[in-house]
Amino acid sequence: MRPVAEGSVPFLDLGRSHAALADELDSVWRSSVEQSAFIGGATVERFERHWAARCESLHAVGVGNGTDAIELGLRAMGLGPGDEVIVPSNTFIATVEAVIRAGATPVLVDVEPSRLLLTGEHVRAAVTRRTAAVIAVHLYGQPVDADDLAAACNAHGLALVEDAAQAHLARWRGRGVGSFGAFAAFSFYPGKNLGAMGDAGAVVTSDAALAERARALGNHGRSRHDHNEHDLVAMNSRLDALQAAVLDVKLTSLSRWNEERRALAAAYRELLVHPAIEHLGAAEGAEPVHHLEVVRVPCRDLVRAELSRRGVATGIHYKRPCHLNPPYAAFAEGPLPVCEEASERMISLPIFPGMREDEVEHVCSSLLAALAALHGG
Ligand SMILES: Cc1ncc(COP(=O)(O)O)c(C=O)c1O
Repeated sequence: MRPVAEGSVPFLDLGRSHAALADELDSVWRSSVEQSAFIGGATVERFERHWAARCESLHAVGVGNGTDAIELGLRAMGLGPGDEVIVPSNTFIATVEAVIRAGATPVLVDVEPSRLLLTGEHVRAAVTRRTAAVIAVHLYGQPVDADDLAAACNAHGLALVEDAAQAHLARWRGRGVGSFGAFAAFSFYPGKNLGAMGDAGAVVTSDAALAERARALGNHGRSRHDHNEHDLVAMNSRLDALQAAVLDVKLTSLSRWNEERRALAAAYRELLVHPAIEHLGAAEGAEPVHHLEVVRVPCRDLVRAELSRRGVATGIHYKRPCHLNPPYAAFAEGPLPVCEEASERMISLPIFPGMREDEVEHVCSSLLAALAALHGG
């Protein structure tokens, strides 16, 4: 395990969740070498079955990473040039990148101020004749209001797609994230709630034809019937067996880890009561999985520097909303004030399975002290 300096709190320490699984994770490597089936095969299929079931969906297609999962899913739906896809600008850049790589045009829109997520109202305001789909991003581990978004999509004949890279096993009104849209894209980047030991991702869907097309598109457009025939111009984006085996081992702990995250988030809410600190809002029916612990504070960069001085590592998600990154500016019509204001005030505090109570307390007392030092109270 990586040593952590006394009195300091890391932003993320994966070593703590891996420690309890060390023997099982070691044996994954040994059995992979013994089986010597490194790409695809029974191990990948087993994880795909398990993951689809946990997402309350019928199919999971393991792919190279979460960005590819979005691109492959969109391409499998037949989206491409001439199609517009509505995307919240408060997301990781990969969501927008994937739309462009699929050949479609992203339309970046604002989010609501409380949970910083997309709503049906934003969709209705951005629909044009060319809109084909909407990507609902379950950001920071919070599920979007899937009923509201589905109603807006249905009213305009749009496909609903989920970017669930940050929301493994989150639920909305009792239903699992990953089961609402035409497909959901998951990332298993190491720091995600369910993370591989390298890059990995999945397209999750209950549409068998979409799953089959996504699988072919990620595997050189191979024909289902003949390995040596190629029906589509495609790409190589496959889940490897080693990562699938790691994910299967870690999947058995995911619900417990999410519970730990919930308890940590509750502690933050209890300890961080201060007029200058704004927590993300709660929504009835939302069961978030707290991938990130985001709060808004004034003078964010100064607060962050002060926290660092006190040994607390923090993050920013995201420093710029997508449309303020120059290559993406053309995809938004005018300013998106909620995204822009939030990007200046958001700070992400440490939250990870295995984080100790005294560490949460240290983060909170440091943040309160930083605010007092900066604002005299
Ligand atoms: C919201 C969101 N979408 C997409 C991705 C892309 O996933 P990956 O890094 O596995 O390509 C990420 C992860 O980094 C993400 O947080």
